Amino acid sequence: TVGDSSNIVWHKSSVEKSDREELLNQTGCVIWITGLSGSGKSTLACALSHALHARGKLSYILDGDNCRHGLNSDLSFKAEDRAENIRRIGEVAKLFADSGVICIASLISPYRKDRDACRALLPEGDFIEVYMDVPLQLCETRDPKGLYKLARAGKIKGFTGVDDPYEPPLNSEIVLCQREKTCDSPNALAEIVISYLERKGYL
Ligand code: PPS
Repeated sequence: TVGDSSNIVWHKSSVEKSDREELLNQTGCVIWITGLSGSGKSTLACALSHALHARGKLSYILDGDNCRHGLNSDLSFKAEDRAENIRRIGEVAKLFADSGVICIASLISPYRKDRDACRALLPEGDFIEVYMDVPLQLCETRDPKGLYKLARAGKIKGFTGVDDPYEPPLNSEIVLCQREKTCDSPNALAEIVISYLERKGYL
């Protein structure tokens, strides 16, 4: 049967996560950035990856948009396909974290249950949710790809925040709140995440 793993045996390697982490001098984890389109997820992911690299730390970005060009090119934006998109990225992120890499997953991931399922894949503490708390109106004003305009004109159906839901996280490890008058630079936001990682002993 498709999806039946009952006759598949897990192969254990003699080199473990802790060995790889010792080599890299860091702790593998997943930084999961969620928020509306235009909330600055990808910008933060890039600034964070850049800052980590400058500190000699190995990170890798899994961006929703980018993964939809390859790994998830068969998926649409209906709820079950979004769930599958998130599940796959969650599983890949888990592998990256196990390799010792700081994996930065950046995708809308609009449903709480899908995000929580990804959290459950990792050991306690290793899934660090970053919520880009930016009002829809501000995202729409920014509209970097012109997609809100298309959605409002009815040219894109089921656009998150317009005619598709976004469930804000209730217990994110980090909330990056941006309002019209309080927009921190991407580097400043990345530093907040880095401070968290340092405080928790991931760096
Ligand atoms: S999801 O909901 O997590 O599966 O979405 P994700 O993989 O992050 O992809 C979101 C990007 O796809 C573009 N796009 C849409 N977003 C939301 N709803 C609809 N219907 C849609 N159609 C295309 C959009 O550019 C999103 O990119 P970001 O970076 O979030 O702006």
